[in-house]
Amino acid sequence: RCTAVILPAAGSGRRFGAQQNKLFADLAGKTLWQHAAERLSANPNVRHLVMPISETDRPRFEGEFGVWIQERGIHLVPGGRERTDSVRAGLDFLRSDERFQDVRLVAVHDAARPLVSDHDIGAVIQAAAKIGAAVLATPVSSTVKRRLNDEHSISTIDRSDLWLAQTPQVFRLDWLAEAYEKHRGRPATDDAELVERLGRPVALIAGSTDNLKITHPDDLPLAESILNRQLHSNTM
Ligand code: CTP
Ligand code: MG
Repeated sequence: RCTAVILPAAGSGRRFGAQQNKLFADLAGKTLWQHAAERLSANPNVRHLVMPISETDRPRFEGEFGVWIQERGIHLVPGGRERTDSVRAGLDFLRSDERFQDVRLVAVHDAARPLVSDHDIGAVIQAAAKIGAAVLATPVSSTVKRRLNDEHSISTIDRSDLWLAQTPQVFRLDWLAEAYEKHRGRPATDDAELVERLGRPVALIAGSTDNLKITHPDDLPLAESILNRQLHSNTM
């Protein structure tokens, strides 16, 4: 009984605006996806790592990073047009090969979140082992407004039970597979949403705002300062 990781990396990083996929950006001597892959692999429950990538990036992953990937036994699979297509590709790969027969839990983690802590990875896997599904999230700290139809009319949403979802999101393999079988292309912004629709319980685990997703160029210096703090305080 072990956990497999799907690390979706098949985007293009449009909002980041670089010539290359943002995941190749450097953070303290390593690319973003390498940080993410290393942190997830370090958890003792994790035995397999599948990384959906785009055909555009395949030559680079297999060339420049081929040895690094091979040494860690990372499986590269072709991703898809939307993030859900890439996760589905990873899931299909895990279910089609008997090498993965011992997999009970699947942790889906954005390759663009390089700073997730070992503590939070452990907590969300542990909760999923117990409940069947769990997601990391942080409480909403700002006041949230809704703009109503009327031009100058707004209302305030009670934020006390609002959370911002992060990854890893961890699921029983059979639940995630069923969720994706029933999904068939309806839009969903994360994997938990598909599992929620099945009526399954999903645990919400309080994570850290350090676990940011690199989206815009300005996120990179911020990530660097968080990484330095993590290295000094040993809270990686
Ligand atoms: N991703 C993926 N397949 C896609 C789209 C996204 O595997 N078709 C991955 C990205 O590589 C990233 C994660 O999903 O690791 C989260 O997506 P996001 O932060 O939106 O990255 P991009 O889609 O690459 O960025 P953008 O939306 O700005 O183009
Ligand atoms: Mg995107």
